[in-house]
Amino acid sequence: MNSQVQVLIGTQWGDEGKGRVVDVLASEADVIVRYQGGANAGHTVVAGGRKYVFHLLPSGMLYPDRVCIMGNGMVVDPEQLETELLGLDPSPETIGTKLVLSGGAHIVMPYHKKLDACAEAVRGKSSSGAALGTTGKGIGPCYVDKYSRIGIRAEDMVSPDILAKKLRLNLEEKNPILEKIYGEPPFGFDELYEKALGWGRFVALFLGDSTLEIDSALADGKRILFEGAQATLLDIDHGTYPYVTSSSCVAGGCCTGAAVPPTRIDKVIGVVKAYCTRVGAGPFPTEKLDAVGEQLRKNGAEYGATTGRPRRCGWLDLVALNYAVKVNGLDSIALTKLDVLSGLDELKICLAYDVDGVERVSFPGSAAVLERARPVYKSLKPWSEDITGCRRVSDLPQAAREYVALIEETTSVRIGLIGVGPGREDTIKIL
Ligand code: IMP
Repeated sequence: MNSQVQVLIGTQWGDEGKGRVVDVLASEADVIVRYQGGANAGHTVVAGGRKYVFHLLPSGMLYPDRVCIMGNGMVVDPEQLETELLGLDPSPETIGTKLVLSGGAHIVMPYHKKLDACAEAVRGKSSSGAALGTTGKGIGPCYVDKYSRIGIRAEDMVSPDILAKKLRLNLEEKNPILEKIYGEPPFGFDELYEKALGWGRFVALFLGDSTLEIDSALADGKRILFEGAQATLLDIDHGTYPYVTSSSCVAGGCCTGAAVPPTRIDKVIGVVKAYCTRVGAGPFPTEKLDAVGEQLRKNGAEYGATTGRPRRCGWLDLVALNYAVKVNGLDSIALTKLDVLSGLDELKICLAYDVDGVERVSFPGSAAVLERARPVYKSLKPWSEDITGCRRVSDLPQAAREYVALIEETTSVRIGLIGVGPGREDTIKIL
């Protein structure tokens, strides 16, 4: 890691393989910070022959003597946090990794998950709406509470009186909605409060001031890696709204979600999967519903790390990628899963869209327009060689090098890293 402050974000619809890239970069970072989203994420890291899936914890947790921060922009399910931390082997204590949970992070309560499921069911049944295909982790309803200023923050979990007050207020608001609108049983205060006090005792072990922590790390010249979750096209403002998540997934999100001054960011790295996938509903111009899509899903094991849902698969979309390059100001690209393309009979890449008979290379800001976009493809020569053992670009077959070169040429962004297999070592490092 040659810059002090790096931000790593997803450039597509999530599941680009950010976990394994963070894992590689975290080896050279002192501090690793998550700044948005919650347990809707699923960052997979394969280390020492073992597979870890992080939903909430920063992916740097497997390295010794790091500081891992969960920023104020996150929404944290305390039950999930406990499960994830207790399942870690080696444990944070034995390897000396310090976890700091911002007091300003919001807490996902059981009623958020219930409301998430109920709202999805209503949208799914409505003739004037459609289910978004959320992960069901309570993300949207928790952010709703944050912005309507009724949310329970991590800091509240360790103050029994404040917790009781806020919980009561929330149940007074949520229970009638659950009962009268969704026909669901209400949450009892006593039982939930008792549980929340227990979560509070666990949360207290990690509670800290992430703003101060980041500020002093900056002052001490520590190397900080901001780990984005979800991705640009799922961003609440810049994604394919309403088929998005409820947080700021773009690079700028780390400034509000973890209080790093924008002027201190040295480098933004975008993770790009060598093809596209999407889970949940929403427009996806290069989706392949045929044997190609099936082969990509099979070769790439494209099943949700959080929900197990099969991911929709299709060709790489450079129109969408160029949009992500601009919105995030990418300095470099980490290209993942190039090995998944080995052995395909055909290989295509989308260079433009045809929308209502007009060709365009700019990404439409509107999901309704994107629904009508027909991809304009360039066909490339496929390759059949197994590339998992390649460690330099020159080891790659000529056709794979051409594929990589086309991405660089079209985006004008250097590719700094290429993933050629699932393991930590299956990486070509360029920059
Ligand atoms: P939510 O974040 O659970 O509210 O889901 C909103 C949309 O974002 C759905 O289409 C989800 O499938 C998608 N989504 C949320 N988190 C991820 C992720 O980590 N990877 C891929 N898609 C995600």
